[in-house]
Amino acid sequence: MDKIMNKLKKEIQEFKYKNYENLELFRIKFLGKKKGILTLLFKELKKYPINKRKFYGKIINTLKKNVQNKIQRYTSKKSLKDENMIFDPTIPGKSIEIGSMHPISILKNRMIEIFRKIGFFYVEGPEIEDDWHNFTALNIPINHPSRDMQDTFFLYKNPDILLRTHTSSVQIRYMKKNSPPFRVLSIGKVFRNETISSRSHFMFHQAEGFYIDKKVSFSDLKQTIQYLINSLFGKAKIRFRPSYFPFTEPSAEVDIYFGNNTGWVEIMGCGMIDPKVLKNVNIDSEIYSGFAFGIGIERLSLLIYKVHDIRIYFDNDIRFLRQFKSDF
Ligand code: PHE
Repeated sequence: MDKIMNKLKKEIQEFKYKNYENLELFRIKFLGKKKGILTLLFKELKKYPINKRKFYGKIINTLKKNVQNKIQRYTSKKSLKDENMIFDPTIPGKSIEIGSMHPISILKNRMIEIFRKIGFFYVEGPEIEDDWHNFTALNIPINHPSRDMQDTFFLYKNPDILLRTHTSSVQIRYMKKNSPPFRVLSIGKVFRNETISSRSHFMFHQAEGFYIDKKVSFSDLKQTIQYLINSLFGKAKIRFRPSYFPFTEPSAEVDIYFGNNTGWVEIMGCGMIDPKVLKNVNIDSEIYSGFAFGIGIERLSLLIYKVHDIRIYFDNDIRFLRQFKSDF
């Protein structure tokens, strides 16, 4: 009898809690109403003479207490903090913070959707470009200020490599590889050596769109831009102002009217793709013509969300970022 008692004592002491199931098996094994070891021992004890009954009764009672203590330890509220402890469905869950989409990403997705509806295919191009794709093929002359060391980021070791200054380089990449007709949209980061202020930054996002087919005209360009502006702002008044870009002819800048107080705000550049550019990518300008436009996403976003400082987009301040809800 003593041997059995010692064995049981040891087994109870050495019990290790793993989960609810193993604790419950432990309870049933020792205290189960029908076949629990201690329950059976108590029954057995009745056959013993009074002195032995008293003596072993005490021991079995202690063992019973030990088992109960163990169970209590693993189920009591206090010890539930220990992650090894039993699952308590009444404890409030740990909350997981749900992120939100960055306003620039929201606008990017909106633009992709707006242009997808009128058959524009979305592509992306590299942010690290070479001189030819960023400048030469786009008819930007060698002495153009945007090539200047002051105006963009070149690699000292290899001045042929630079961070693209605009997404127009994607026009060249796409047109070289594909034959018209095509309608393409591309959105991505561009870089310029500018001092950071509320209106400018050395890095921002641009959307580039271009459409090449037989008989594409300036009125197609106007319609497309009006469609974009209406989709973004509701009905809005815009005007095309004559301008100059080396890769479009004629070129225009588009202004949008924001009422008497604000007046006209410039939002994008555009034009008919210059035949010289088409020639650089082996497209016959006698057969094909096309238009292109470029829009700064931050600039657009300032107008849509009525934010007045471009820097806030890159501060990663969640008090700002969590105010934006994506409808995707
Ligand atoms: N690439 C021009 C810029 O960055 C914008 C533009 C794109 C103008 C396409 C005309 C046509 O300023």
